[in-house]
Amino acid sequence: MSHIPQRLTNYSIQMKNILIIGSTGQIGSELTMKLRQIYGGQHVVAGYIPGAEPKGELLESGPAEICDVTDGEALQRICEKYSIDTIYNLAALLSVVAERKPLLAWKIGIDGLLNVLEVARTHGCAVFTPSSIGSFGPETPAQLTPQDTVQRPRTIYGVSKVTTELLSDYYFHKYGVDTRAVRFPGLISNVTLPGGGTTDYAVDIYYSAVRGERFVCPIAAGTYMDMMYMPDALRAAVELMEANPDRLIHRNAFNIAAMSFEPNQIFEAIRKYRPQFEMTFEVDPLKQSIATSWPDCLDDTCARQEWDWKPEYDLDAMTRDMLEKLEQKLRA
Ligand code: SER
Repeated sequence: MSHIPQRLTNYSIQMKNILIIGSTGQIGSELTMKLRQIYGGQHVVAGYIPGAEPKGELLESGPAEICDVTDGEALQRICEKYSIDTIYNLAALLSVVAERKPLLAWKIGIDGLLNVLEVARTHGCAVFTPSSIGSFGPETPAQLTPQDTVQRPRTIYGVSKVTTELLSDYYFHKYGVDTRAVRFPGLISNVTLPGGGTTDYAVDIYYSAVRGERFVCPIAAGTYMDMMYMPDALRAAVELMEANPDRLIHRNAFNIAAMSFEPNQIFEAIRKYRPQFEMTFEVDPLKQSIATSWPDCLDDTCARQEWDWKPEYDLDAMTRDMLEKLEQKLRA
């Protein structure tokens, strides 16, 4: 238990048996390892779909099971086999891919969620299913977007995230299922690449910088979006699931924020350490229309008040760490 983050020691950590659905994805690959450090490898089951098998440390550090979120019976079997009491449901298509495959996005995001919630109801599991800045739309106040405000997204990704929030709250109020979630900003990490999101440019730009290539930015200058470094995002998920339920006024889902920037600002942050780095623009109309419809920066006061949320990385701290870690990774 030596890896328990300092702030978690404020709570008494209950041992858990956890299932991660989507354990090899952008968030899952790192969250699985973090949860195994906290709760012990054998207590965290890495669920994956064929074609996205866990490898290396992820495979060796604990159990793994084929777990397609659209297969309710398989979910049931896994929950019984491992006496699962907590599910991190990370199965989803990101915003750009979802626009190309809206029916599949709904099937995974909502039909899949209903399977998870039903298993949780019958087995008494707590559930974390992330929402996103994508749950907001063009009518939402873009600056310091309040916790409770208009949510009329224009993407299928956003529609499924709003539905996720509503269904998760419904299962809490009607059946007492312990559902909790955050609205993640664009997530930036040096481990697993995101697949087909609107905020991916903020990851890709670091790879270009480290490879010494010019970056062609698909998002227009002046387009602000909330972003977060992965270590903060992982900590948010774990801290919320460990939070004292008596303090939670909200559940699905909390605004969380760490930094907001537009392409020139991340470019300048990198140039501070890589002065030769260059960027040009070739705006992608689909990505741009999605980005424009999302808020510029969220107000995360409720998360700060109800479970002491606080980010650790700003743009400069993240940039230093990303460049250092990617240098090592690409050299290896
Ligand atoms: N990163 C996601 C996307 O761009 C938003 O939550 O689709």
